[in-house]
Amino acid sequence: STTRRFHFNVEWKKVTRLCHTKQLLTVNGQYPGPAVVVHEGDTVEIKVTNRIAHNTTIHWHGLRQYRSGWADGPAYITQCPIRSKQSYTYRFKVEDQRGTLLWHAHHSWQRASVYGAFIIYPRQPYPFSGSHIQSEIPIILGEWWNDDVDKVEKEMLKTGAGAKVSDAYTLNGLPGPLYPCSTKDTFTANVDAGKTYILRIINAALNNELFFAISNHTLTVVEVDAVYTKPVHTKAIMIAPGQTTTLLLRTNNHLSDGGEFLIAATPYVTSVFPFNNSTTVGFLRYNTNDKTKPANHLNNRRRLTKTTLSTRAVLPDMLDTKFATRFSDSIKSLGSDKYPCKVPTAIDKRVVTTISLNLQNCPENQTCSGYDGKRFFASMNNVSFIRPPISILESYYRKQSRGVFTLDFPEKPPSRFDFTGVNPVSENMNTEFGTKLFEVDFGARLEIVFQGTSFLNVENHPLHVHGHNFFVVGRGFGNFDEEKDPVRYNLVDPPERNTIAVPTGGWAAIRINADNPGVWFIHCHLEQHTSWGLAMGFIVKDGPLPSQTLLRPPRDLPKC
Ligand code: C2O
Repeated sequence: STTRRFHFNVEWKKVTRLCHTKQLLTVNGQYPGPAVVVHEGDTVEIKVTNRIAHNTTIHWHGLRQYRSGWADGPAYITQCPIRSKQSYTYRFKVEDQRGTLLWHAHHSWQRASVYGAFIIYPRQPYPFSGSHIQSEIPIILGEWWNDDVDKVEKEMLKTGAGAKVSDAYTLNGLPGPLYPCSTKDTFTANVDAGKTYILRIINAALNNELFFAISNHTLTVVEVDAVYTKPVHTKAIMIAPGQTTTLLLRTNNHLSDGGEFLIAATPYVTSVFPFNNSTTVGFLRYNTNDKTKPANHLNNRRRLTKTTLSTRAVLPDMLDTKFATRFSDSIKSLGSDKYPCKVPTAIDKRVVTTISLNLQNCPENQTCSGYDGKRFFASMNNVSFIRPPISILESYYRKQSRGVFTLDFPEKPPSRFDFTGVNPVSENMNTEFGTKLFEVDFGARLEIVFQGTSFLNVENHPLHVHGHNFFVVGRGFGNFDEEKDPVRYNLVDPPERNTIAVPTGGWAAIRINADNPGVWFIHCHLEQHTSWGLAMGFIVKDGPLPSQTLLRPPRDLPKC
């Protein structure tokens, strides 16, 4: 097999957007960062050199890291951060995965600008071919802050309130003409009429689920989170932070004289205030065959004002939960002979956990502006996750867990109450802080039910599991019912993913074949919620065979 090598320098670079110039944290001075393009079966070696004064790590989001948890990347979970002037080489094999994923920094809020595409070409031809693919267009959705993001994060933790929202959404780092000063900074994809393109859509935004659409074009979903799906034709998609969606785009046959269409992304939120910071747009531009005629888009271009660019016609409404739910539920595993759906049809263990935002009294010498003079934090089963001082994986491997983590994550919610009732006053009053995990045997068939609560819950939570894909066997609104709901699970072709948007006031049930020994982080992929403690982890023990054990730690593994 081939070994592909990359070198990432984490470094500052002067970047201007919205007429604000600032030092932006980048990889190799690029924003978005360089794409990692590999083939199924490759060994990948990415040397990351820290050229800034702060710590850093990089996470290969959705990569299985089979037996190679040391290369997963979340700071203090599977490694100590890479310190200033130090390097660490992430080494792992890409096996039995194909499609679109992403990589991003996994330390503080660095992933605001440190991210890029991770693309795996398949061994076998695409199952959706039939049509010749003209070319591929990666589109990474992100956010831009005029302020230094480190400052935004610190401010949030100090005031206990929600973080300042970003100043723009971006397509491949470009805000587009609806934002001040950004007409030049507009993403454009050039296409020919009557061809099929692959669009690789990646949501690298920090704190928002997004709708994405192209005006007058139907999109066909063929893969999510690097797993093939049954084709779904749709006008728009909903994509949560950490999720990836591969689309086929068939361009119009009749536009060989050119034409221009909006590519747009806007937040999907279940409560408007204060999340709306507008819409990022770019253009899908048809090449014209007739070189003597001016292209249509040049004429169109002059008419593009804020009103004509109104994306209402293109995108679902910001609050369109119906659309979001229908879209998410339409995604199913391909489940073909070549790519069977390996959902566990029975389970060895079920963990039911609340995912919740909470309030806490303000520390003595502080003023909090979260809500009611209190500060926000978040929890799972009333445990708010604390990042330990050294890597959990290392302390587990060396059998020195004392003072680092405990294995008593509660496997049931603390008490039975109406999680999604309108007045859950009794809720979340006994939250503890801790680094609690649970442990399963190698090969265990695990079910986790994420139960949203209504207390302060105005947003969906995109839950991400490291080191494993999972099958979304059930989703619903209201309270999960252990008797009635499992009966209705989809155990035939549920979508296989690494990140699932759990609806506000609802729940999602996932199943995991826990076959990857190591320590694996589970958290909300809204960075703000992770900072508040909406996280936990689980340990998969070594299996009986040598090929089922965690590899030894690499020699250059960073020290805390
Ligand atoms: Cu994409 Cu733990 O993260």
